[in-house]
Order: sequence, then structure tokens, then C-alpha cells
Amino acid sequence: MSTHQTDTGTRTRTDTGAAAPAPAALFTAERSAEIVTDSFARTLDPRLREILGSLVHHLHAFAKDVDLTVDEWAAGIRFLTETGHTCDDTRQEFIMLSDVLGLSMLVETLAHPADGQYTESTVEGPFHMVDSPPRALGDTIDEAAAGGEACLVTGRITDAEGTPVAGAHVDVWQADADGYYDVQRPGEVPDRNLRGLFTADDDGRFWFRTIVPRHYPIPTDGPVGGLLRATGRHSFRAAHIHVEVTSPATRTLTTHLFVADSPYLDSDAVFGVKESLVRDFAEVDDPDRAAAHGLPNPFRHVDFPVTVQRDG
Ligand code: BEZ
Ligand code: FE
Repeated sequence: MSTHQTDTGTRTRTDTGAAAPAPAALFTAERSAEIVTDSFARTLDPRLREILGSLVHHLHAFAKDVDLTVDEWAAGIRFLTETGHTCDDTRQEFIMLSDVLGLSMLVETLAHPADGQYTESTVEGPFHMVDSPPRALGDTIDEAAAGGEACLVTGRITDAEGTPVAGAHVDVWQADADGYYDVQRPGEVPDRNLRGLFTADDDGRFWFRTIVPRHYPIPTDGPVGGLLRATGRHSFRAAHIHVEVTSPATRTLTTHLFVADSPYLDSDAVFGVKESLVRDFAEVDDPDRAAAHGLPNPFRHVDFPVTVQRDG
């Protein structure tokens, strides 16, 4: 409320004494989301404006919904700060946070609808950080030969019409029989062990030798591990082989091949399991077939036909 000095030196009120109405942009808890969203009104990129508006709307609704205290807000800031500090060139704790919150799977699934005709997608995960070595069809990706059940993986890449995608690249990577990726055992196993980049033949077919992967825990020595412990959640992923299929004519497919008798299929730590991706790794007792593929007898076999989407 303002006052001023009169000619006679007395101080008088110059307004009615009533509180002036708050300008529209002043913050109130009731209109908080609207006021902040309005502050982005001049954002030139319409998509950025839409995303920021929706983010603010849901963030403010969340804080009001749980009646977020200052201490809880500060704990959240500390958690996110620690998450950032845990990231480096080889570790992405923020993506893992997104994974255990199911956000990665949601975004992936929304971006790649299978529409009942394509192979379903799933998360890429953090262990695709090195290039897989190109290998010839039929080669083994198990250079360490340090145990595990011998396995033959076969498959065929086709489009929705059943036409083979000749020359498609099939990139595979997996954990070993103890549940570790090569990058988690530097110096202990050959570099790029259990990784391979294959080129499908003219009929879209690919095949390679490996070992049956094991279920394994996602890294738990950072804040995401703390979150899992605090909420009584386990950290295991069901056993799987990562498969990424690329070709100039098709949309990239990032998926997994899950082992049907693995534990954690129904409680995968990152919600990555889709029923259509779970396959029987059947035992084959056939000495001639084993010899033809350079495998011990008996061995396990899984077939993974893959349907990808043509561009356009
Ligand atoms: C993986 O499958 O490699 C993975 C995915 C998400 C988090 C951690 C690991
Ligand atoms: Fe994995």
C-alpha cells in the first residue's frame, strides 16, 4: 500500500486501502501449473511448448497429490544429483532409473507398436556400449568357452508379407553363464566375448552358436540400487539374448530373446519381458546335427523368426 508526503508535510493514504487484485501472473498454489505453463507461451518450437506444459501440469499435480514436503523435495533433489554423479562414459544411471520406473519400456513400446504383425521390441539396456565384432554365419560368439550350455540360435528376418530381408544385420549380445557381460569382466574374458554382428543370407536367415545366457542383476551399487532396496524390489533380469536388426529398407528393431525356463520372467527388474519374446531353448540330442554345427551333443536350440517393418 502506498503513501506520499503532502505539501503540508502530513502523510495521507492515496488509495482506497483495499488490497489491489494480484496481477494474473503472480504465483498461487491453486493456479501454479497454469502460471508456469503460461511462462512458456513464447516457446517457438510447438512440440517443446507442449512437452513443457504437460510436464509442469503432471509435476505440479504430483506434488499436490502427495502433499510433497520441503524435506521430501530436498531428498528427491539429492537422489537425482547422486544419479547424475554416478553417470560416466560407461555407465548411465539415469537410463537405469528410467528402466526400473518402467519409462524406458513405455517409450519403446509406444514408439514401436507391433500391431500384431511385427516382432515386439524391448529395451536396449546399457551393455550395447561397444560395437559387436562382425562374424560369419554359424560362428560362435562364445570365445571364452568358460562354461555354459552349448546352444544353436537360428532365425529368419522377414517383413510383414513374409518376404525375406536379405543382408539384414543381426547384432546380438548377451551375458555369460555367470550372468556377466564382457565389459563387466575386463581382462578376465576376451574383449567382445558373447557379441556378434551377423549378416542374414539371401533368404533372410541367420544362425550362430553360443551358450544359454543366465539371469543377472542390474548394477545396484548406485542410487537406483538404493531405490530397489528401499522398495523391497529385486534387481534381476530374466535370462535373455539381445537382438538388434537393421537394414536400409526397414525400421530398426531392438528386442530380446528370453529363455523360457529362466527365473524372473514375471518380475523382470526393468519390465522388459513380453510373452511373444519368450522361447523354448529345447534340448536336442542328435550327434549328426551337433557335429554339423560344431556343437557338443546334446545341445540346446532356439529358433527366433523376426518380422520387421518396411520403411514407409
Ligand atoms: C540389459 O538387459 O542389459 C539391461 C537393461 C536395463 C538395465 C540394465 C541392464
Ligand atoms: Fe541384458
